[in-house]
Amino acid sequence: MKKMSQKPENENSTSVADSYIVHSLASIRKTYRHTYHAMPPVGWMNDPNGFCYAFGKYQLFFQFYPYGAAWNSMHWGHYASQDFVRWQLLPTALAPNGKADRDGCFSGSAIVKDGKLYLMYTSVLGGKQTQSLAVSSDGVRFDKIGEVIPGELLPPHCARSDFRDPKVFVRKGMYYALTGSLSTEGEGQILLFRSPDLMQWEYVNTVRRDRLTTRGIYECPDFFEYGGNDVILCSPQGYETADWRYENLHSSIYMVGKLNVASGTFDKEYEDEIDGGFDFYAPQTTRTPDGRIVMIAWMQMWSRTMPTAQHGWAGSMTLPRELSLKDGKLLQRPVREIENYRRNHVSYSDVALTQTVRLDNVKGVKIELDFTLDLGTAKRVGIRLFESSRHSASVYYDRALDRVIFDRSKMGVEIACDVKERDAAVRSVKVDVSENRISMRIFLDVSSCEIFLNGGERTMTGNVYSDGSGLSFFAEDGEARLVRLDKYDIVVE
Ligand code: FRU
Repeated sequence: MKKMSQKPENENSTSVADSYIVHSLASIRKTYRHTYHAMPPVGWMNDPNGFCYAFGKYQLFFQFYPYGAAWNSMHWGHYASQDFVRWQLLPTALAPNGKADRDGCFSGSAIVKDGKLYLMYTSVLGGKQTQSLAVSSDGVRFDKIGEVIPGELLPPHCARSDFRDPKVFVRKGMYYALTGSLSTEGEGQILLFRSPDLMQWEYVNTVRRDRLTTRGIYECPDFFEYGGNDVILCSPQGYETADWRYENLHSSIYMVGKLNVASGTFDKEYEDEIDGGFDFYAPQTTRTPDGRIVMIAWMQMWSRTMPTAQHGWAGSMTLPRELSLKDGKLLQRPVREIENYRRNHVSYSDVALTQTVRLDNVKGVKIELDFTLDLGTAKRVGIRLFESSRHSASVYYDRALDRVIFDRSKMGVEIACDVKERDAAVRSVKVDVSENRISMRIFLDVSSCEIFLNGGERTMTGNVYSDGSGLSFFAEDGEARLVRLDKYDIVVE
């Protein structure tokens, strides 16, 4: 059993970070700042961490580097919210200054035990990764406990250099942690550990092991139970593109099945990509007091140029999304709390679509659109967003491809990407169009666009950096109809 430290070793660095944040807030350029998404106050944000409900609030930690808008020495920033929409910045929770984590406090998760909030995170030192704990009795100040899963607990087939992102959960009074790992052969894997008390851990088994060395580590495993199913989310690096799936450099996937925690085996029934857009990675889930599973993810992708970096910040979170399973497949819906922020309702029905149809009072960049398209005979039918005289992004159904396309190639800012990605301009997904209809719910927040297709059967998430706030519907080469449309401003004062 490790002893609790009397005085937090990290006091100086978290407070240095916090006073730096206060002093540099004014230097951030607001052009692309969101209004209802979590984003770093200043500097860099990547993965959501420790997403949970504790001390009467949703707690959202995140990979954070306050001193610049690029990935660097990792801290844990901290937000809390009553409703997933308004996020209150709290003091920086972890800084990389402990015995085992001087090179970074990497991703991890959180759990409440005996009224205290425990953060389980990856401690990085000298090219090795281990799992450590920190604890808080007030949900604000965290004391580091130290390493609890040292490298010595790894079986011989696991590399010590890539062993990270613990997701801790409890089942029948026993604590479990899933972690990402790379085998010594270079294969991505997910490991399972168990502990009676969060302090003493033992290795159970390798839950998943790729037989390929061309991918990388399985980053950020997550786990939840839903209606008798076990669901593992994870973000394998370098997943190869398969037709229209897995087009980003790294992908986030879900696997539905049964996790046998005694043997550490996962009986997989289904696997698919979580989001078919550009910017979605490292999702985490939590359970709300009323029993919903809510997921949030980093709304960016590695190895891309990020236009906001010149403005003093980079990276943000998706809208939290309620998850469910229908016929064994994932459905995503924006958290219902966002509906409390709807203003200025505008609705239309039965509008014939031509090359360009602009509707009165249907525009803006902080809005929700909820509509159904009758695809008619048109070859392409959809919507242009963030429209100015020169720029726009579009979302449309393409009949020849039988896919929904999200095209940001004309937004006016080019995003460079890794050579392994074909481009960072166009993505597509397949959806059910058996009734020749598609429904879309789209959320825009200044520089982000989240698309929920057919009640969340597929989603597409992407940042859009444009100079326009116009909107138009269109149908090309044939007729089509806007069956219904509801539009709201989303106003968070
Ligand atoms: C995923 C990731 C994690 C790691 C963290 C470091 O985006 O690479 O595997 O813990 O980011 O910031």
